[in-house]
Amino acid sequence: MRFDSKLPDVGTTIFTVMSRRAVAEGALNIGQGFPDYPIDPRLSDSLLEAIGEGRNQYAPMEGVIELREQISRKLQTSYGRHFDPGTEITVTCGATEALYGAIQAVVGPGDEAIIFDPAYDAYDPAVRLAGGRCLRIALTPPAFRFDWDQVRSALSDRTRLIILNSPQNPSCTVADREDLDALAALIRDRPITLLADEVYEHVLYDGRRHASVLAHPELRERSFAVFSFGKTLHATGWRVGYCVAPPDMTRELRKVHQFNTFSIASPLQYAVARYLAAYPGAWSGLAAFFEAKRDLLAGMLRGSGIEPLPAAGTYFQLVDYGAVSRDNDMEFADRLIREAKIAAIPLSPFYAAPPRMTLLRLCIAKRDATLEAAAERLRAFAARRG
Ligand SMILES: Cc1ncc(COP(=O)(O)O)c(C=O)c1O
Repeated sequence: MRFDSKLPDVGTTIFTVMSRRAVAEGALNIGQGFPDYPIDPRLSDSLLEAIGEGRNQYAPMEGVIELREQISRKLQTSYGRHFDPGTEITVTCGATEALYGAIQAVVGPGDEAIIFDPAYDAYDPAVRLAGGRCLRIALTPPAFRFDWDQVRSALSDRTRLIILNSPQNPSCTVADREDLDALAALIRDRPITLLADEVYEHVLYDGRRHASVLAHPELRERSFAVFSFGKTLHATGWRVGYCVAPPDMTRELRKVHQFNTFSIASPLQYAVARYLAAYPGAWSGLAAFFEAKRDLLAGMLRGSGIEPLPAAGTYFQLVDYGAVSRDNDMEFADRLIREAKIAAIPLSPFYAAPPRMTLLRLCIAKRDATLEAAAERLRAFAARRG
């Protein structure tokens, strides 16, 4: 039988490709976005306690109430508003499942979704599986600012969804309150839902504050806002995320969720709930924690020829290698793995039509020693080529 692919052009993600190459070449992997340091031991203890107490059977479809209550409390602290754990908060398998579920709940055949390139790679395939298509608006380096006039021109009667990721992976740009106001004005009289990917909500630098759609009275009425404890608690492998949306939208999201993952690993949910109850401010030091790492890595690279770009948020750092090579980013990333034993992520796979650029993404969620070793290898490589 001939088996027709629904996603014929989708291969293995660039993260998997580079991580496999890193293993094969014995390279230091500072490309993929995961910490190489341990989680808080008190979080590990919470998990062991939850398992020991017998929290090992199906959790409720929408998430255990203890966790949804802690999420509600956290949202109140962060965004100054009460969100109902019963009707507005759903625990999902990482942010990825929340994104997928929201997209399936909104997009139908022939519908259009607007996304901003460089775009996180989970959006486009999910829109296509729902029968829709993405209109991709390119943000251009080095500032990667949102251009709302371009968005206005892209709107049509078919537009059902806009996906806004802020702080944005991989550009490290952030949307501010004026951006949200401009977006709200654009979609005010149209049947358009907003999907806000805010997994880096706590990682903004230099005193910036996160402009969440949940703190925007107009936008939150039409938004799915998506978050991840993988990012907030340095535990990407736990796959615990959540989605916040008004009750009617949450109902639709849960229809997808219940036949997709149904519910999320029970002991992990209890562990996060218990941990947040005991340490409600566990996430409050995240910006300072990552800012120090950004400054360490950027400081070591500055002047090397592989130059750090300004980074406003996320746990990534872009570097521009234009001074040492004219290779395109895929070629240069390949050369770095082979010759410098460093795995980094090229930016062009995040664009439908990549602009001419010489940028790579590095992940700063690494031990200081890892960042120092990576910077030394990059400096030495640049010096050899300079
Ligand atoms: C912008 C963005 N959205 C969503 C995700 C997925 O989050 P999770 O690991 O919780 O599924 C990531 C992970 O890197 C991300 O960078």
